[in-house]
Amino acid sequence: MKGENDPLAAFWMPFTANRAFKAHPRQLVSASGIYYQSADGRPILDGTSGLWCSNAGHCRREIVEAIARAAAALDFAPTFQLGHPQAFELAHRLAALMPEGLDRIFFTNSGSESVDTALKIALAIQRARGQGTRTRLIGRERGYHGVGFGGISVGGIVSNRRTFGGGLPGTDHLRHTHDLARNAFSRGFPQHGAELADDLERLVGLHGAETIAAVIVEPMAGSTGVLLPPAGYLERLRKICDRHGILLIFDEVITAFGRVGGATAADRWGVTPDVITMAKGLTNAAVPMGAVAVKREWHDAVIEGAPGGIELFHGYTYSGHPLACAAALAALDLYAREGLFERADALARYWEDAAHGLKGRRHVIDIRAIGLVAGIELEPRPGAPTARAMELFHACFDKGLLVRATGDIIALSPPLIVEKGEIDTMFETIGELLETIA
Ligand SMILES: Cc1ncc(COP(=O)(O)O)c(C=O)c1O
Repeated sequence: MKGENDPLAAFWMPFTANRAFKAHPRQLVSASGIYYQSADGRPILDGTSGLWCSNAGHCRREIVEAIARAAAALDFAPTFQLGHPQAFELAHRLAALMPEGLDRIFFTNSGSESVDTALKIALAIQRARGQGTRTRLIGRERGYHGVGFGGISVGGIVSNRRTFGGGLPGTDHLRHTHDLARNAFSRGFPQHGAELADDLERLVGLHGAETIAAVIVEPMAGSTGVLLPPAGYLERLRKICDRHGILLIFDEVITAFGRVGGATAADRWGVTPDVITMAKGLTNAAVPMGAVAVKREWHDAVIEGAPGGIELFHGYTYSGHPLACAAALAALDLYAREGLFERADALARYWEDAAHGLKGRRHVIDIRAIGLVAGIELEPRPGAPTARAMELFHACFDKGLLVRATGDIIALSPPLIVEKGEIDTMFETIGELLETIA
């Protein structure tokens, strides 16, 4: 019987089946490159970059050393009414990586904070433009925007919302774009569904454009199972936003920093939003950090429209933390020096072919791949949705491969340093284990 002395009892684990985990704990104790090491001494091939975040692989020397230097030189400095050089340097470097025009950067500590910051900035922009009636925020079904009250309100995952009350007032949701009947096993962007962007016209008709501040979408929905945008969808959404004075926010917490073969999905796919949220790969996940990039004209509207003094009453104690800045600068150097975004792009075809090699395997009802990300959708087990993917996740771990299970979908997003042989190992392991899962 477990009691006070149970060493696993105190940690209330996030997004975890705590009882199941603590009955059969699986722990990671170290990492290097594309491998973790498990507590029972086995190498675990990291098919998920941790949680979509260690894009250059783990414990990279340059990042480790940069953090150590920063910790010894300036462990903390406030960025409220003060500054330190690395925060300015990082903002400058990040601005240069963003799509043309999005060159004003606000720092946060996570994806959730980036989302809530972006939503607040959108409201501030609309006010500064003299459009203060625009307070409504629109998300999308099956969207994941972190766990703040703003993020869950525009997010579209019922289990993340139902326990927590009504959420922000005045939010609404576009329909999601996932359409197995028309798009299963598509290569590249799915061909069907661009017209789903017109759902925004429906919401404009329902609420009035003058009440809508912003629309937030993930250019590719990651956490709900790698849902690729239908060809033409994002372009259409951009046009409708422009027509109605609605700001477009891309949540690129997963897609930024090489995941889809460019610095951002916006850049790689040629659709420019007004605001981009980031986190995860920004520091290669070595220190928590997020950021929000804003179009300069919107930033200037807020700054210059303020009467004087503080222009935006928002910020975090750790916005632009020196250790995070050091990690991010080292990560950006590493991405550039090793050409990792280009590498992801160059490997994308091989990756897609390998993923689609699972077509015809037991339980597989769809495969989606782009850049270095893939979703393998399984037929839900009758009466026990999500159980099959969770069993596969455990079986993979026990075989030395880390994958992510989300609903009935297995998501893969390896570090961008992945080799072809390791790609083969990932899909072969999954293929073999699929045959063993009921
Ligand atoms: C698109 C998106 N937005 C926001 C978040 C939340 O990020 P965090 O867990 O760092 O708060 C995530 C996390 O996976 C995400 O994928």
